[in-house]
Amino acid sequence: MRSIKRIGVLTGGGDCPGLNAVIRAVTKNAIIQHDIEVVGFIDGFKGLVENNYRELTLASVSGIGHTGGTILGTTNRDNPFHYLDPSGNGEYRDCSDQSIENISKLGLDGLVVIGGDGSLSIAYEFHQKGLPIIGVPKTIDNDLSATDVTFGFHTAVNTASDALDKLHTTAESHHRVMILEVMGRYAGWIALHAGISGGADVILIPEIPYNIDAIIAKIRHRYEQGKKFSIIVVAEGARPEGGEMVIQKLVPTSHDPIRLGGIGQEVSKDLEEKTGVETRVTVLGHLQRGGSPIPYDRILGTRYGVAAVDNFIRRKFGTMVSLRGSDITEVPLHDAIKDIRKVPPEGDMVHAAKALGINFGD
Ligand code: F6P
Repeated sequence: MRSIKRIGVLTGGGDCPGLNAVIRAVTKNAIIQHDIEVVGFIDGFKGLVENNYRELTLASVSGIGHTGGTILGTTNRDNPFHYLDPSGNGEYRDCSDQSIENISKLGLDGLVVIGGDGSLSIAYEFHQKGLPIIGVPKTIDNDLSATDVTFGFHTAVNTASDALDKLHTTAESHHRVMILEVMGRYAGWIALHAGISGGADVILIPEIPYNIDAIIAKIRHRYEQGKKFSIIVVAEGARPEGGEMVIQKLVPTSHDPIRLGGIGQEVSKDLEEKTGVETRVTVLGHLQRGGSPIPYDRILGTRYGVAAVDNFIRRKFGTMVSLRGSDITEVPLHDAIKDIRKVPPEGDMVHAAKALGINFGD
C-alpha cells in the first residue's frame, strides 16, 4: 500500500469563522507529525477544476488560527460535476474527471474537503468515483445532522446575541418593536440560541410556522404589563402558517440556488399595520459569517483539522470528522449529507424558551 505523502485541502461553500483554524491544523499535523505535504486549492472546487492551487507550508499557515474567512478563498457556486463552461457559452459540463486528473498530476493521495451539506455532497460524489476524501463539517447554520456542532456556529450566535443586546437599547428608549433577521435557511439554530441568550420576546424559526396574531397577542400582553417594547429574532427561513419562505434571489449555478432574505420586513409590515406600534428591522446578514472565531470555534476547528489528517493516515476515506458529546469521531460521508439537522419543536431548547415566556408565533 502506497504511503500517504501529499494531500490537498479546500474550503467550499460560504465562509465561516474557524476555517483558517482548520487549514492550519491540517497543515501542521500533516507536516509536523506525518511528514506529509499539503496543497491548498484556491476558491474551493473552482480551484480543483482549474488546477489553481498553492503549496501550504508551516510559514503560510502561521498566525492564521484566530483570523476569520479562509486564506484559500471559497465559492458557493461551483460544482465540478455541473460546471459552468469558463468559455462563457452558458453551458454546463461534467469536470469531475478533469479534477481527478489534476489531483493525480499534483501527486496527491487524496483531499480534505471543509464544507457544509453542498460541498460535502460534492465530496461524496468524488468519493464514489474512487477519490480518497475526508470531510470536515462547516456551517454557521449548525444544520448537519451527523455532528453535534459545526465550527463557526457559536461565533455566529455570539454576533447575533451581541446585536440583540444592542437593539434592546433602542427598543426600550423608543418604545419600539425591534426585529433582528438572522441566517438559517432550513434550521433555526442561530435564531433559537441567540434569542434565548439575548432575551428575545419572540423567536421565529423555519421549523415552527408562525401566526401573526399570536405574535401580536404577545406584544400586547407585554404592553399591558408596562413593557412598551419588544424584541423579535427571526430566521431568514421562517414563514407564516400556510405561507412560503421569502426568496431574495436565485443563484442557478449554486448547489442550493435559493438565497433568502426579507422575512423581517414582512413581519414588521404586518405588525405595524395591525398594532400601530413603531417597528424597525435589522438584517444581520454576513456579519454573522465574518470576523474572528471565538475560542470555542478555534479549538473545534483545530480538533477537526487534526482528526482529518489522522483519519487519512488510518485510511478512513469517505468519512467526515464529527463531534459527538465531547469526543471527536467520524461518520460515513453518506450519513453526513443525508438529513438536515432541524430544531425539534418539542425539544428541550424550545421547551426552555417557552418556559421563560418566549413566543414562537404558535
Ligand atoms: O449556509 C450558510 C449561509 O450563511 C446561509 O444561512 C445563508 O442563507 C447563505 O449561507 C447565504 O449565502 P451567500 O453567501 O450566497 O449570501
